[in-house]
Amino acid sequence: MKDGYLDFANSPMGAKLINALGLPKPLPLERYSEGQPVIKGSVLVGGGGEPQLLEALAGVFSRIGAQSLAHDKLPQWVSVANKAGLTTGRWGGNGKPGEKVKALVFDATGLEDSTQSDALYWFFHDAARSLLPCGRVVILGRPPEECKSHRKATVQRSLEGMTRSLGKELKKGSISQLVYVSEGAEGNIESTLRFLLSPRAAYVSAQVIRIGQPVGQLVTPADWNKPFAGKKVLVTGASRGIGAAIAEVFARDGAHVICLDVPQAQEGLNEVAKKLGGTALALDIGSAEAPQKLVDAAKADGGWDVVVHNAGITRDKTVANMKEQIWLLVVNVNLSTQERINEALVNSGAIKSGGRIVCVSSISGIAGNMGQTNYAVSKAGVIGMVESTAPIFAEKGITINAVAPGFIETQMTAAIPFAIREGGRRMNSMSQGGQPVDVAEAIAWFAHPASSGLTANVIRVCGQSLIGA
Ligand SMILES: NC(=O)c1ccc[n+]([C@@H]2O[C@H](COP(=O)([O-])OP(=O)(O)OC[C@H]3O[C@@H](n4cnc5c(N)ncnc54)[C@H](O)[C@@H]3O)[C@@H](O)[C@H]2O)c1
Repeated sequence: MKDGYLDFANSPMGAKLINALGLPKPLPLERYSEGQPVIKGSVLVGGGGEPQLLEALAGVFSRIGAQSLAHDKLPQWVSVANKAGLTTGRWGGNGKPGEKVKALVFDATGLEDSTQSDALYWFFHDAARSLLPCGRVVILGRPPEECKSHRKATVQRSLEGMTRSLGKELKKGSISQLVYVSEGAEGNIESTLRFLLSPRAAYVSAQVIRIGQPVGQLVTPADWNKPFAGKKVLVTGASRGIGAAIAEVFARDGAHVICLDVPQAQEGLNEVAKKLGGTALALDIGSAEAPQKLVDAAKADGGWDVVVHNAGITRDKTVANMKEQIWLLVVNVNLSTQERINEALVNSGAIKSGGRIVCVSSISGIAGNMGQTNYAVSKAGVIGMVESTAPIFAEKGITINAVAPGFIETQMTAAIPFAIREGGRRMNSMSQGGQPVDVAEAIAWFAHPASSGLTANVIRVCGQSLIGA
């Protein structure tokens, strides 16, 4: 659905009026188009204590062709970057800011104690105003639960406050994330940095991501622009909305997509599959025979590499007014089917080792929502399923993660009454709804062959929605 206010706010007359009234001014977000570089503009690098990820960062920046600059308090970056063959220099100096940059990357892994947190202050105090529109902030830390001293765990946990506050302060379409990297997992950061620094992450902000040891083998794709070449990807609910966008992103990035939807949606399903050169599979995933049918289809295909559980339904009523069958229907389609299908596909080997499962939850499953007890139970359950099955599936070399969308412009949200819809759209740091492609890009990042260090993560694609924050 079109967001008329966004267009108006960016017209000459609308911008004047909106400024005068002090209304929120959403900026059109930069989004990825095929073949464009990961980042257009320089990266300013900072750090505190004895940062431990500088070499890994320099390696990634050199492979993505990013220009980098060293903040005053991290002069050692220049030699680390030069060693990796990067063009680099010092940024600003003598209390004066340097050039505008597209990203601020701060390596906080060396912070051992809260008294060192002023390193964050100096870096972001100096540089916050120098971030270009749709800028990127990435703070890297160590998972607090793995820190050897409680002092270190404390300061590492405090990074969340910094990340989330920056997401609210930066404005102009900029995003801010915290990435916890386990010791020894330095080699697994590339797919995540490529995602977070690029326009693919347009509507993801204030998220905490954990990168651990690789599940199965760490794979580097031959072509980062076509990471799914030769891969088979199942997308449920693919005839329209977010599911169609997911199928499109996987096809763009080289996959053969098996597009699944209910038989009633056959026409739309055929259209999507035909457009993408994929396969249409009409099946009600809520039916008792669905898991076995999917195992048979996957085996006939030589196994699937990625399964995306996107199909979902809402049947809203307050719990006092809700009929039992409505409860059962929503929990079955949104949650129990996913459990049954995952077990059947994993136990039969129909998902290959090195495979990826990505589920779609919702911020309703995190925050709860009036009239959505059934939906919120199903979507919170998806998070529970991801967390509890990740270690079991890891034994087979398979990762499982989830995205939790906020307000996304689809037929589902177009049906919401106007006043509630406008509230949902504006109550986030981007002052606008997300696009289906934003959810799709996050799913493709989790499903990436190089994302084997990511499992049991749940990431919101919500523009830092105030709901459930
Ligand atoms: N749109 C949003 O703002 C939003 C926000 C949070 C979460 N989500 C979630 O994102 C997912 C996609 O949402 P959407 O907005 O594109 O919804 P949508 O209603 O446009 O699409 C859902 C698709 O799933 C299919 N489906 C439903 N039941 C099925 C079944 N039993 N078997 C096979 N296919 C089935 C439908 O036919 C439909 O094509 C859902 O899981 C939804 O809960 C959406």
